[in-house]
Parts: sequence; structure tokens; C-alpha cells
Amino acid sequence: MALTSSMLFSSVGKKLLNAVSGLTLLGFILAHLIGNLTLLTGNSDAFNAYGHFLIHKTGVLLYVFEYGLIVFFLLHIITAVSVWWDQQVARPTSYKKTASGGDTSKKTLSSTTMIYTGALILVFAIMHLITFKYGPAEAQGYTTIVDGVEMRDLYRLSIEVFLKPGYLIWYIIANALLGLHIRHGFWSAFQSLGLNHPRCTPILYKLGIVVALIMGFGFVVIPAYIYFKGGVL
Ligand code: HEM
Repeated sequence: MALTSSMLFSSVGKKLLNAVSGLTLLGFILAHLIGNLTLLTGNSDAFNAYGHFLIHKTGVLLYVFEYGLIVFFLLHIITAVSVWWDQQVARPTSYKKTASGGDTSKKTLSSTTMIYTGALILVFAIMHLITFKYGPAEAQGYTTIVDGVEMRDLYRLSIEVFLKPGYLIWYIIANALLGLHIRHGFWSAFQSLGLNHPRCTPILYKLGIVVALIMGFGFVVIPAYIYFKGGVL
């Protein structure tokens, strides 16, 4: 069946786009978490070489990846806000005053705060990019040499950042909210994609909790470990 523009902007179309973009972003942060775990090994060369490879050795793929990430982020935000807005207009009583509809409605703290946790994750992502991607680099003396190649010392920056208690607290709060967002978003995305089956749904619901815990804890463990060990080396 061909996808027309009126289908895309229908409630179902928006939920579909929201689900696809959300799961794609989840794929990115899962890969990002795995890559960042190398920080905990204390192997600064491995971490810096990994960052250098992504930025300087992936050629045109880097642009596809970065622009793709921006498009998916925007798509996810626009469709989420639009679906949320439609619900506000359609529903006179606020979410808070509505009782849970039981197991089938899955009304939880996570599901009723999606728009707020999403907004905070956006703030976090922007600040995170300012700190790391656009933070101190070679020009500010953050340079190292790995296997004879001069590159940005992202390892030094990461350790310095996470030794500051303010960053630690902020990363704990933001990533707990990220976990809360994923806890409902994961399951809900599969519902929007039509995977609604008495046998699949409970499994996806539980899997969502596991994925949320992995992501939330994973991103909290990295700054916490660095902070409490006073660095990693
Ligand atoms: C302990 C947690 C984290 C660490 C140590 C970390 C580390 C980094 C570093 C070092 C970069 C810069 C890469 C470069 O410029 O070469 C980066 C980029 C980025 N991070 Fe994180 N990150 C963490 C958590 C997160 C989370 C939770 C998200 C999403 C919600 C996220 C989203 C991003 C994005 C979108 C980029 C830019 C990617 C690009 O444009 O290539 N990060 N991160």
C-alpha cells in the first residue's frame, strides 16, 4: 500500500513515524553506550582512537549518520508534540486526574510523563553536545598521540567533566529520565507499529523495562564510576 501525505499526517501516521524514529534513536544511544563503556577500561588510547576513527575515518558515512540523527531527532520531537497536542485538545480532563485503565491501558508514571521526560532529554542532548562534541579540542590543548597519530584527547575531557559533582548529578537525573522515557516508549513504539498480540505484548512490555534499566544504569554508571574512583587510570 502506497504511503500518501494525508496518511503520514493522520494520527496513525504520526505515531508510526514517532515509533520508527524513536527506535532508531534508541539504536544510536545503545551503540553510543557500548562505545562509551571503553572509558571504564582506563584505556585512554582505545577511547581516543575510537573517537578519532568515527570522526576522521568514516568519510561520507559520518555526514549520513549525523544528518540522519538530526532528521530522526526532529521527526521524533515533532510527531510526539503533535500527537500530545491532539490528545490535549481531544481530552478535557488532564492525565493526572484520570485513573489507570488497568493492565491493557498501561498507564504508568512513565507513560503519563513522556512529553516532560522527552523535553528534558532534549535539553540534556543539547548541553551534552556543547560539553563534548563542541567542547575543548586540539586548539585548546586537548591533544594526544596514539600510534604516531595526533588526535583530540576526548578521554581527558570525559574524565575532567565527570570529576565535577554538578555534572555527575545532572547525568544521574537526565539518564534516570531517559530510562523512564524508554520504559514506556519502547513498548509503545511496537504497539504503534501494529505488534499488538496477546503473546508478544507482555514480552515487549517486560523487554522495555529491561532495555530502560540497561540504558538508564549504563549511562549513570560511567560518570559515577569515574567520579567515585577519582578518574579511571
Ligand atoms: C556517560 C554518558 C555519556 C558519555 C560519556 C558520552 C560521550 C560522548 C562524547 C565523548 C561525544 C563526542 C563524540 C565526538 O565528537 O567525537 C558524544 C556525542 C554525542 N552524544 Fe554522548 N555520551 C554520553 C551519553 C549520551 C546520551 C545519554 C545521549 C542521548 C540521549 C548522547 C547523545 C550524544 C549525541 C547525539 C552525540 C553527537 C554524535 C555525533 O554527532 O556524532 N550521549 N557523547
